[in-house]
Amino acid sequence: MRLSGLSLLGLASYALATDNTSLPPNEIRQVTPYAVKKPPLTTPWTNKVGTNPWPEYPRPQLKRSAWKNLNGIWQYQNAADLDALASPPFGQPLAHEVLVPSCLESGLSGIQANHTLYSWFTTRFTIPESFDDQNVLLHFGAVDYEATVFVNGQKAGFHRGGYFHFEVDITELVDVDDENELLVFVHDPTDDGDHVIPIGKQRLIPAHIFYTPCSGIWQSVWVEAAPANHITRLDLDGNMDGDVTVTVHSATDEGAPVKVKVYDGDKEVGSAEGTSDESFQFRVDNVQRWSPNAPKLYNVTVTMDDDEVHSYTGFRTISKSMRSGVLRPQLNGDFIFMFGTLDQGYWPDGLYTPPNQDAMVYDLKFLKGLGMNMVRKHIKVEPALFYRACDELGLLVFQDMPSPRPLQTQKDAHGVTRDILPNEEQQEEFVRQLELLVNQFKSYPSIVAWVIYNEGWGQITKDYPEFALTDRVKELDPTRLVDSTSGWIDHRAGDFSDNHHYANPQCGTPIYSLPSRPHDSSRIGFQGEFGGLGHNVSIEHSWNVQQSINQINETYELDATLEVWNDRSHLLLTELKDQILKYECSGAVWTQTTDVEGEVNGLMTYDRRLKRVDEQQWKDDIQALYDAAAERAGSTEMKRQL
Ligand SMILES: *[C@@H]1O[C@H](CO)[C@@H](O)[C@H](O)[C@H]1NC(C)=O
Ligand SMILES: *[C@@H]1O[C@H](CO)[C@@H](O)[C@H](O)[C@H]1NC(C)=O
Ligand SMILES: *[C@@H]1O[C@H](CO)[C@@H](O)[C@H](O)[C@H]1NC(C)=O
Ligand SMILES: *[C@@H]1O[C@H](CO)[C@@H](O)[C@H](O)[C@H]1NC(C)=O
Ligand SMILES: *[C@@H]1O[C@H](CO)[C@@H](O)[C@H](O)[C@H]1NC(C)=O
Repeated sequence: MRLSGLSLLGLASYALATDNTSLPPNEIRQVTPYAVKKPPLTTPWTNKVGTNPWPEYPRPQLKRSAWKNLNGIWQYQNAADLDALASPPFGQPLAHEVLVPSCLESGLSGIQANHTLYSWFTTRFTIPESFDDQNVLLHFGAVDYEATVFVNGQKAGFHRGGYFHFEVDITELVDVDDENELLVFVHDPTDDGDHVIPIGKQRLIPAHIFYTPCSGIWQSVWVEAAPANHITRLDLDGNMDGDVTVTVHSATDEGAPVKVKVYDGDKEVGSAEGTSDESFQFRVDNVQRWSPNAPKLYNVTVTMDDDEVHSYTGFRTISKSMRSGVLRPQLNGDFIFMFGTLDQGYWPDGLYTPPNQDAMVYDLKFLKGLGMNMVRKHIKVEPALFYRACDELGLLVFQDMPSPRPLQTQKDAHGVTRDILPNEEQQEEFVRQLELLVNQFKSYPSIVAWVIYNEGWGQITKDYPEFALTDRVKELDPTRLVDSTSGWIDHRAGDFSDNHHYANPQCGTPIYSLPSRPHDSSRIGFQGEFGGLGHNVSIEHSWNVQQSINQINETYELDATLEVWNDRSHLLLTELKDQILKYECSGAVWTQTTDVEGEVNGLMTYDRRLKRVDEQQWKDDIQALYDAAAERAGSTEMKRQL
């Protein structure tokens, strides 16, 4: 199936992964075989990834039984520019074997390239007999940033947006009796030139708080069989009273008959009929509610004409309400104090792609084990299986929209310094992708709030677009809270008065201390970031890149020993507890889960091999926050709920 020639002849031409147009003619081309490249730091999972990565079904909320995983060893080569699209290398071997899914810049890709703005990927696949005569859908979990897809020499589709799933119906292009060629052209500018696109923390030239970029096919690729009129999206919401709200989106046939069944284990506990592309509601009696301490999920089966998919939901309600004179976030009608980490989802071996499911869940279990009930998924969107894991473990998620590049300045042609912010067209694209985020992820029960802007990054300051964006998000998803601006540039939009302050918190406090402003009592008091205590580690736990090591000192605090680091943690968590008792603090986010590149302020090191936390002390300090919140809210009920 693979085209690879394992001969070592001709390999010299491919010593540099960044070779572009200087390829030898096809007939003498050899393909460099796949091997993990040694990354600047490994994890315990680096050597467990192998060549069949991410075997799990990638989309747990819209699962079909007839599917085939296309992850594995593909071929890759760099391209010079967009003009390469005019002559796709159909039927040709490409220069290097590459692991899919992966970021081209990661060691796990086998490429570990730099500056891969344009690239080709190819693989060959057959259609399983189990697909019968059904349509063939080709799915990509996510490709950063633009993907042009060809099947057997024909253009099959195009997608823009580095964090989102897309599907292409390739029925007309595939040969069910023979091998098929899949060729993908990827353009990922990151922050090159004038591009202002959602990139989160990726930078072509990483520096301190900005990290190595991720280019290419970084989430799973698979094909599955479905009828021509199939379910393309399923919007599912279960509330605390057992009401299920469903919209079944169809590929071709609005108004097709739809049937939804809800199961508790094997037992059917509710069902309803409706029509596609229209919202409908029904009630399941006596539901067990979903919450962080009892994350009960129910399986759901949906049929539409001849299509059947498996999904799941949890029954919970997110709201806000005045409690003893303070505006509070509520889960299932009770004030819930939310505490968790800033979770960036970076890996030294895989960058954006976690090495495997175990590695991904390891972080979440560690946080849950310390008593946290929330994570803030920071300007990155994870593979769907991450949210499934949060649903199962009972971890609430504050989901950030990945920011366009932050406020930076550059000199224009006249030597005038100006901010780089999205222009009108770039802003439209940002909004379109924000809508993709909400629509693709709104059915995961664990997501509790959407965060639109982080610290003013990419936030247009004229006309305050966060107000209209907050309305838009609430229109697409009326079941959640919106944290419109997390930190810094706050014009009072959205549900949260979200302050960032380092190292100590100023959560719901009436303190003016730039860049944080006094708490606005008309919104929920929230500490979107604090902590960030640093502690340097020996080279075997460090991101071994000289420029990153040189920038470790560009931080507010480095504690000499772990004892000091834990002392300081205790002090900051105690100060937070004090603010909960005295002021209007309803939740806080500690920076951060792990070290990332030149940042050495994680609860764990970047390789996940060293935990900085004194676990018992942290557990006690975190429990004390929930107790303080219950005391402040005058509720003993809440204590038990947590
Ligand atoms: C491609 O390689 C050629 C020759 O090595 C070089 O001049 C050119 O700048 C490269 N183009 C890109 C986009 O890297
Ligand atoms: C990566 O490419 C950029 C832009 O060409 C260059 O400035 C940088 O030094 C390169 N980094 C490495 C690690 O090679
Ligand atoms: C849901 O279905 C899966 C199999 O698809 C099964 O493993 C799981 O136990 C079911 N969960 C519930 C809550 O019924
Ligand atoms: C941090 O540790 C590294 C070794 O891992 C060392 O090279 C570097 O100088 C240290 N930096 C600071 C600021 O302590
Ligand atoms: C950090 O350390 C580098 C040398 O590794 C030095 O050049 C730089 O001035 C230091 N920066 C600060 C803020 O201390």
